[in-house]
Amino acid sequence: MNSGIDLGPYLDLAGFDDAVDRDDADDLAAFATRFEVDDSPMIYLDGNSLGRLPSATPAVVDQEVRSAWGKRLIRSWNEGWWDLAAEVGDLVAPLIGASPGEVVVSESTTTNLHKLAGAALDARPGRSKIVTDDLNFPSDVHVLAGLAHRSDRVLEIVPSDGVHGPLPALAAAIDDTTALVSLSLTAFKSGYTYDLAALTAAAHEAGALVLWDLSHSVGAVEVDLNGANADLAVGCTYKFLNGGPGAPAFLYVRGDLIHELRNPITGWWGDADPFEFGLLHEPASDIRRFQVGTPPVLSLAGAQAGIGLVAEAGIKAVAAKGRDLVAFVEELAASRLAPLGFRWASPRDPARRGAHAALAHHDAWRVTQALVELGEVIPDFRAPDNVRLGLSPLTTSFVDVHTAVERLARLVESGAHAGYPAVRTGIT
Ligand SMILES: Cc1ncc(COP(=O)(O)O)c(C=O)c1O
Repeated sequence: MNSGIDLGPYLDLAGFDDAVDRDDADDLAAFATRFEVDDSPMIYLDGNSLGRLPSATPAVVDQEVRSAWGKRLIRSWNEGWWDLAAEVGDLVAPLIGASPGEVVVSESTTTNLHKLAGAALDARPGRSKIVTDDLNFPSDVHVLAGLAHRSDRVLEIVPSDGVHGPLPALAAAIDDTTALVSLSLTAFKSGYTYDLAALTAAAHEAGALVLWDLSHSVGAVEVDLNGANADLAVGCTYKFLNGGPGAPAFLYVRGDLIHELRNPITGWWGDADPFEFGLLHEPASDIRRFQVGTPPVLSLAGAQAGIGLVAEAGIKAVAAKGRDLVAFVEELAASRLAPLGFRWASPRDPARRGAHAALAHHDAWRVTQALVELGEVIPDFRAPDNVRLGLSPLTTSFVDVHTAVERLARLVESGAHAGYPAVRTGIT
């Protein structure tokens, strides 16, 4: 579609030379060439929702399909498939400060939340409350509400200002009746990122267990689960880890808790010896007890390729670039977007945010549609009024950010977004 706006790059504008200098100094810049990127003008700022396709992934999956499945057939279970979920877990472990053997990749984030939240509640039988906040992802809250209902507990959803974690209110909510505190470490809309160690310590002081959702943290910020003595965590592999659509999720259980906790979603893949086909379930002694059914081998193999790229780049460098990209958006937004009605809807403190940024605008849904179609920038929309920009560190350049912000500004100045439907449809 002819947008009517110049799509850049905007060589003569303020900030462009700075963006080029930052890209030149970026040690991770070459990683972008290891993803499937064509020469279209499209700028992808949604890697926090679905990461880009690593160039290696099709060959890895093809090998799994043609050789392992096509030729080796059932024998492949003994030739690598059996261990794959735990092996991919060990690849995720250093990205989240976990030790080998504490992470397994299986099922979805939502299902993993069910397992670990259920296990935690069973381990705190005398306590009547679950605590979360209203920044948490809806699926997490649905899981917690369902478990609260079934176990006759109360779910307290601590209200926030919509951007920052409600710290004093949260601290007040966590008391000696609390069985479980479950929060997103990095909030899916604003990117607010909790102090993992401080919150975990506060919950432990009250005798509660803590379950962190790392979906928007892993591959974006540094996470030190072991350093914080964190109990439990889950997270997606299809966002900043570039694992592919619907790629299986990871779960983490601190080593000393593995034996103590029982997976409430029992199934044969969590059994000590599934191929004995015993009717009495004996949980595996290791992290595999938190598996349920046969893992999706092809998806696991695909996910391994994406996770491997973040592991190779090193999470410290990845997180540092994420912080710089968000700071660059913030800087450009202040001069170029604030006068056009955009409000910064992420934290100002760089230590308290992830690798995505939210810009609030009263017409955000229309603006998002126009930006995708006319501006050739793909962000996403988060109701009620956020245009969310995902700044996946391995695939986003500073020139991308400069160009995308300028396209957004020109689009709103042109008024072209006003022609788009006000009512949201489809997946955003
Ligand atoms: C923070 C967070 N938690 C949980 C989920 C749900 O993940 P899944 O659909 O894989 O269960 C998502 C999905 O986007 C998410 O962003």
